[in-house]
Amino acid sequence: MSQPSQTETSIYSPRPCRLLSVNKLTPQDKLFRLQLRDGSELQHQPGQFIQLSIPGLTDAPLSVASSPTRNGYFELGVRKAGILTSALHRLQPGEQVGIRGPFGRPFQLDDLRGKQLLLIAGGCGLAPLRSLIQYCQDRRDEFATVQIFYGARSPQDMLFQQDLSAWQTGGSFNCRYTVDKKPVDSCFDGETGLITNLLNDLQIDAANSCAVIVGPPTMYRPVISALRRLGLNSEKQIMVSLERQMRCGVGKCGHCTIEHLYCCQDGPIFWLEEVEHLRGAL
Ligand SMILES: Cc1cc2nc3c(=O)[nH]c(=O)nc-3n(C[C@H](O)[C@H](O)[C@H](O)COP(=O)(O)OP(=O)(O)OC[C@H]3O[C@@H](n4cnc5c(N)ncnc54)[C@H](O)[C@@H]3O)c2cc1C
Ligand code: FES
Repeated sequence: MSQPSQTETSIYSPRPCRLLSVNKLTPQDKLFRLQLRDGSELQHQPGQFIQLSIPGLTDAPLSVASSPTRNGYFELGVRKAGILTSALHRLQPGEQVGIRGPFGRPFQLDDLRGKQLLLIAGGCGLAPLRSLIQYCQDRRDEFATVQIFYGARSPQDMLFQQDLSAWQTGGSFNCRYTVDKKPVDSCFDGETGLITNLLNDLQIDAANSCAVIVGPPTMYRPVISALRRLGLNSEKQIMVSLERQMRCGVGKCGHCTIEHLYCCQDGPIFWLEEVEHLRGAL
């Protein structure tokens, strides 16, 4: 019998990975840096996800939070949600997990190149978007202006705070963030209010702009309305990321469908025009 190819192996059976480091991002989120045990690169593209497994537990989809331009490792920003993610949060550097993938349709980089980018994330959505932001940072010449907008519930829910400060001061991007509510005694120096407040006063060249939105379902419609007011339309100007419960990750089990679309293969990244008319998509 012939041996399965590398591609078949990474789709159906988990490849062992070593945890290089674990860092706390918020009280419920951690950043995991991993390396494939055979030393190879993950070879993902920004926006793709992997299925992470720990022996004895069901695997879970997690977006890659680092750019493929950073060699020798990949990173996952993971919220403690249930059984698998709690077990992952208990692991220490040096321990092993399994991963299948990378899977899914990534951000369409060819359509973003040369454009003025509005990269908009809410809550955990900053994890997948960070992969694209790092890519833009490392290939800065390929893109026109890059503006980052991030909204979180409170200062202590904000992911990647060190990155946000670096993006704000590094000179490559315009980066603004806001929290829904700020505790009275907080020393948080960002803005307060919904993420749409950050978009209302923007001056952009709408015809040459592209927006990417990754966040909780409640964020999509108001943000899309704000972008339309700025002059962007659905046709190849607004990309969205849609997350659904997933099992196989490879278009076999049907867990992730939105009407005729399989989120695991046709997405998770879609052009708005592909999904806005589908029931329950946004
Ligand atoms: C494409 C994709 C990318 C994702 N990327 C990230 C990421 O980068 N970081 C991150 O922290 N989380 C991410 N998630 C969500 C993550 O997959 C779930 O939090 C995880 O599957 C929960 O597994 P668990 O065993 O810990 O929880 P469980 O014990 O299975 O469930 C705990 C709770 O989480 C809910 N849940 C379970 N599976 C999912 C799911 N696939 N999507 C949403 N909610 C779910 C359950 O309904 C339940 O309420 C992503 C999901 C998708 C579909
Ligand atoms: S997760 Fe199985 S078909 Fe998409």
